[in-house]
Amino acid sequence: MSLPASMRYIAATGPGGPEVMAVQTGPLPQPAAGQVLVRVQAAGVNRPDVAQREGKYPPPPDASPVLGLEIAGEVVALGAGVAAPAVGSKVCALVHGGGYAEYCTVAAAHCLPWPQGYDAVRAAALPETYFTVWANVFQLGRLGRGESLLVHGGSSGIGVTAIQLAHEFAGTVYATAGSAEKCAACETLGAARAINYRSEDFEAAIREATGGRGVDQVLDMVGAPYFQKNLRCLAMDGRLVEIAAQQGSKVEFDIFGVMRRRIVITGSMLRPRSPAEKAAIAADLRKTVWPVLDAGRCAPVIHQVFALEQVVQAHALMESSAHIGKIMLTVAA
Ligand SMILES: NC(=O)c1ccc[n+]([C@@H]2O[C@H](COP(=O)([O-])OP(=O)(O)OC[C@H]3O[C@@H](n4cnc5c(N)ncnc54)[C@H](OP(=O)(O)O)[C@@H]3O)[C@@H](O)[C@H]2O)c1
Repeated sequence: MSLPASMRYIAATGPGGPEVMAVQTGPLPQPAAGQVLVRVQAAGVNRPDVAQREGKYPPPPDASPVLGLEIAGEVVALGAGVAAPAVGSKVCALVHGGGYAEYCTVAAAHCLPWPQGYDAVRAAALPETYFTVWANVFQLGRLGRGESLLVHGGSSGIGVTAIQLAHEFAGTVYATAGSAEKCAACETLGAARAINYRSEDFEAAIREATGGRGVDQVLDMVGAPYFQKNLRCLAMDGRLVEIAAQQGSKVEFDIFGVMRRRIVITGSMLRPRSPAEKAAIAADLRKTVWPVLDAGRCAPVIHQVFALEQVVQAHALMESSAHIGKIMLTVAA
């Protein structure tokens, strides 16, 4: 397959607002051993991209400095030692940066096939939230069949995935969101009850909804102001899983409260995890979750699609928090 000598990608001229991003031209990345080169057709926009652009979440030293954590497209070249996916395969992938570009390299083991009937935009909307939710809610937080989950930010990219996966693989799901429209969307996706955190006290609502028992797990992305309330929402042996601290990360808590109810406090960051750990998550997703996507029992929620050149508007929309689900970029290579 003949490849162009150069590609367009999004460069950020420095930390700042969405306007620091612009299209630039540069050489194609070369796939290293164990990697493939993908011609990108679509890429997802995620909140960590916003934090990286603002200079608050620097990429790991071995990562591409170009924004973008998830893509879908066609494999166009293989690095040494790669047997699959083959050239010509349609894949979606969790990438180590570099997704806002016409071409991107990725570990072969971090690629997954497009679920049945998917196009590039829907496929690219999967990796970041499915890897994150699977690793945190099910692997780390061990949410099991029949157990209950409270998801904060239920209408976020992460939230819509967590609601659907917990509804499919566990039991009752509760969510918080910031408007009546977002709450309605959470309930359509499978939440038994969505709580508008701007007008209701979520702790009281969870206590009432669970008859005072509490939930088995809270998936939190808000941080310090929710910490005490999250602990009080948990049932005996409950797990608090932290994936972000949007409103602060420093807390004080009563150790005896944790001991009395045998609570586990945990959390993780996806990006710095080792290639082998990401490959293991991908393998687990392929075996357990991809058949559910193929069958249409879970699906991405796409809020709006922008062309790569409209990346400034895409980030501005994410920062406005007006979206429900995913914001996507299409890349015409
Ligand atoms: N640990 C990891 O590996 C990992 C990986 C990916 C993402 N994340 C984190 O997960 C979060 C979601 O990411 P995303 O890409 O899905 O972003 P997103 O769609 O922009 O979601 C952000 C969400 O936070 C919600 N939120 C803000 N303040 C809240 C509050 N006080 N109570 C309840 N919800 C509140 C917003 O809800 P409203 O709009 O209704 O206010 C919005 O739904 C981000 O913080 C991101 O950094 C972590």
